[in-house]
Amino acid sequence: MKNKNIVLCGFMGCGKTTVGKELACLNGYDLIDLDDFISQKMQLSVSEIFEKYGEDFFRDAEHSACKEILRRENPFVLSAGGGTLTFERNVKVLKENAVIVLLNVPLETISARLADDTSRPLLNAPDREKRLSELYLKRLPVYKACADFVVNADMPARDAAVNIMRSIGS
Ligand code: S3P
Repeated sequence: MKNKNIVLCGFMGCGKTTVGKELACLNGYDLIDLDDFISQKMQLSVSEIFEKYGEDFFRDAEHSACKEILRRENPFVLSAGGGTLTFERNVKVLKENAVIVLLNVPLETISARLADDTSRPLLNAPDREKRLSELYLKRLPVYKACADFVVNADMPARDAAVNIMRSIGS
């Protein structure tokens, strides 16, 4: 699948950003990290946007960013946010001109990777582990339903990127 934009989707901590970097390096595409794109526009971190303006505001900014990014000329790898593809309006926009690849990583790996993380506002709760597993189980079928490809990404980022290239036939 030559020159087809690629959107990486999956739960927080599944490696969308790190695998995205490797993938963009392998296929020579531009790399866009959706959270960074929004942060740069607003000159605020994602946590600060949640804190100052609330989640709904962030979701609107996320949707606008998807629309803007899709108009780019050069092929790109887009590392989405963990919530991006759980919104039908984003799936609809992104599918117009990209394939969606789910980075499938088990809950245990995610939980270990996020153990000391403080940058995810959705996990800032006293019952963090419970929240994490509930959200993971709720979202996994949603991710699977929108993904054109589901790729095992429970491995070093470079290997996961190679897996993606093989799966999508790039
Ligand atoms: C979110 C995931 C985050 C970020 C925001 C909301 C989510 O991105 O967009 O905190 O709803 O899962 P990462 O998946 O890159 O952490």
